[in-house]
Amino acid sequence: MNQTLFFILLLIAVCSVSECVQRQYHFINEMKTWTEAQRYCRENYTDLATTDDMNNMNELNKSVNDGSVQYVWIGLKKTGRDEWHWSSGEPALYLNWEPGQPDGRDECAVMLNGEWYDLPCSDTRHFICTNTNTGLVFVNQMMNWRDAQSYCRQNHIDLVSVRNQNESQQVQKIISDNHLSGSYVWIGLFRDSWQWSDQSNSSFRYWRSGQPDNYGGVEGCTMILLNAVGQWNDISCTNQYPFVCHEDKLIVIRENLTWAEALSYCRQNHVDLVSVHSEEIQRRVMNVVKRASTAAVWLGLHNYCIMNMWIWLSGEIVCYQNWAPGNGTTPENCKLEKRKGAVQSGGDQRWISLPESHKLNFICSRY
Ligand SMILES: *[C@@H]1O[C@H](CO)[C@@H](O)[C@H](O)[C@H]1NC(C)=O
Ligand SMILES: *[C@@H]1O[C@H](CO)[C@@H](O)[C@H](O)[C@H]1NC(C)=O
Ligand SMILES: *[C@@H]1O[C@H](CO)[C@@H](O)[C@H](O)[C@H]1NC(C)=O
Ligand SMILES: *[C@@H]1O[C@H](CO)[C@@H](O)[C@H](O)[C@H]1NC(C)=O
Repeated sequence: MNQTLFFILLLIAVCSVSECVQRQYHFINEMKTWTEAQRYCRENYTDLATTDDMNNMNELNKSVNDGSVQYVWIGLKKTGRDEWHWSSGEPALYLNWEPGQPDGRDECAVMLNGEWYDLPCSDTRHFICTNTNTGLVFVNQMMNWRDAQSYCRQNHIDLVSVRNQNESQQVQKIISDNHLSGSYVWIGLFRDSWQWSDQSNSSFRYWRSGQPDNYGGVEGCTMILLNAVGQWNDISCTNQYPFVCHEDKLIVIRENLTWAEALSYCRQNHVDLVSVHSEEIQRRVMNVVKRASTAAVWLGLHNYCIMNMWIWLSGEIVCYQNWAPGNGTTPENCKLEKRKGAVQSGGDQRWISLPESHKLNFICSRY
C-alpha cells in the first residue's frame, strides 16, 4: 500500500470516533423547592439540569439511581414571554410568516405555499419528519402537533426545522410531491414561554400528554415523572422534590495566560485545554466563549512541525475543521515561531493560529 493511501485510510479510521458526553448529570437526593435546588446546583455544579434531546433525557434518567424516587426537578421554568422554537431544539432565527401571521392566538405552526401560519396545536394535519438517512419524510397521516412530534421522535428524528430558504424549498417540494400543495402541513415550530435555568436556548420539550396545564394557575416549574417514561409535568415551584444538576464540560477561564501556562492551569484545576474534534463541541465552545474578555481564546490545538500537521491535545488529528481563511496551514518557519490554535470569541468564532506567547483567556474541559 502506498503511503498516501495508508494515511487516508488512517484518517478515515481516526475521524469516525464517536462523540463523548458533553454534560454530566448529578442526582441530589434532598427535598428542596425549585429555587433552593437551583441555588444548590449553581453552587456545586453548573445549574439545574438542562436537556437538549432524548439522549440527554436517557442520561439524566440513568443518573437517578434511587428506584423509590418518582419526581425530580429539572431547570425548566415559566417566564412571562412567549417565544417561537424548533422542536429539534434550535432557536428560530429564520422566520417566514405569511404577512399578518402569527396572529397571536395559536401555539403551533404550519406551512402553506412556503409561508407559515399559526394554528391551534390540537388541529390534525399531515406533517414532515427529519430522518438521518433519507433527509425528509412526509407522513401520510393526520395528527395533532404533539402526536406528530412524538411520531417523528419515535420513528425518525424530529419534526422538520426550516432554517433557511433552501430548506424551505426542500419542504415545499416534498409537500407538492405528495399532492398537498394547497393544504396546511405541520412543521416543527411551536411557541411557549418556558426557559432553562442556565439560559440555554434548548427548545427540547418532553411534556406528558395534556401537560403543561398550569393546574390551579400556580404551576411555573417542571418536574420529571420518572414512572411515566420520564415525561414532564408542570407543578408549583414551592413543592419540594429531589433534583438533578448538570455540570457543563467546558469552562472559560478569564485570565490572560500564554498557551503553556493555560495548559498547566487546566491540567491542575480541571482536566485539559479543550479539544474541539466535532461540530457538537464547537457549538458548546461558541456558547461559552462569549464570556471571554480577549478577542481570541486558547484551545488545545498544537502544531507538529515534524509531521506537518495540527493535532488536538486529546491525540486526535484535526478532522472537523473550522479554521478562518488563511489559518491552519503549517507556517514555513514552524520551528522558529511556535504557533498554537485559538478560537475567535466574536464574529464567526473560527479558529486562528497565534504565537504561543500571546496571553489569552482559555477553555478547560472539566471531565
Ligand atoms: C441546499 O441543500 C442541499 C441538501 O442539503 C444541498 O445539497 C445544497 O448544496 C444546498 N444549496 C444551497 C444553495 O445551500
Ligand atoms: C440563543 O438565543 C439568542 C436570542 O435569540 C441568540 O442571540 C443566541 O445567539 C442564541 N444562542 C445560541 C447558542 O444559539
Ligand atoms: C485580559 O486582556 C483583555 C484584553 O486585552 C483585557 O480587557 C482584560 O482586562 C485582561 N484580563 C485580565 C484578568 O488581566
Ligand atoms: C488567520 O485569520 C485571521 C482572522 O480571519 C486573519 O486576520 C489572519 O490573516 C489569518 N492568518 C493567516 C496566516 O492568514
